[in-house]
Amino acid sequence: MPAILQLVYASRATFPETASSQGIEPEVSRILMQSRQNNPRGGIVGALYYGDGHFFQCLEGEPDTVRETLDRIRRDERHEEVRVLREQSLDDPGFGEWSMKYVPAAVDVRQLLQRFGQRQFDPFAFDNDRIDAMLDLLRQGRDTTHGVAASSTASNPGDATPGASRALLGVGLVTVAIVLGVIGAATYLLVTS
Ligand SMILES: Cc1cc2nc3c(=O)[nH]c(=O)nc-3n(C[C@H](O)[C@H](O)[C@H](O)COP(=O)(O)O)c2cc1C
Repeated sequence: MPAILQLVYASRATFPETASSQGIEPEVSRILMQSRQNNPRGGIVGALYYGDGHFFQCLEGEPDTVRETLDRIRRDERHEEVRVLREQSLDDPGFGEWSMKYVPAAVDVRQLLQRFGQRQFDPFAFDNDRIDAMLDLLRQGRDTTHGVAASSTASNPGDATPGASRALLGVGLVTVAIVLGVIGAATYLLVTS
């Protein structure tokens, strides 16, 4: 199996912040939708974080495809000052199930920033330890952007199975109810005849 390239970059958004009702910028939603449509075609996985007008993104996959994807992303006018923070080979992808995981700015990210001594999210100032801590947080964090296109090779990991089991349980209960009804009716007919 060829080595996987992990590429992490920081950039500055060029669009103004507009706090939307769901807490996710409309422009970021569009980027997620495009990523989740395109990345599975090239076998790319990864995670995206947006906060305080900055992006932090991790792309993982076959080296040439990752570089081509970054070249395309670099040309995107929704951000500027794209700076690669890390480029390394991996044996296994860290975001294997996610075509583009998105962890919203939340308390745990704020706590991490406090530990870093940052009031604002500024990935340009991240050293290696901070990049590691941020990637850990993205790996462990919850993606709440379920409505924003299919997010992974398996829709949203963790959600698909409980949903399917609930549907199966429902069908099972209805079947049991019908069988009990038929037995009850037959018993009534036998007793009353
Ligand atoms: C911060 C940022 C991250 C992005 N990440 C991805 C990505 O992971 N995959 C992708 O295909 N496009 C990504 N895009 C969008 C691309 O720059 C480009 O607009 C898109 O791939 C074009 O897709 P289309 O040809 O299907 O319209 C990103 C854009 C920005 C600004």
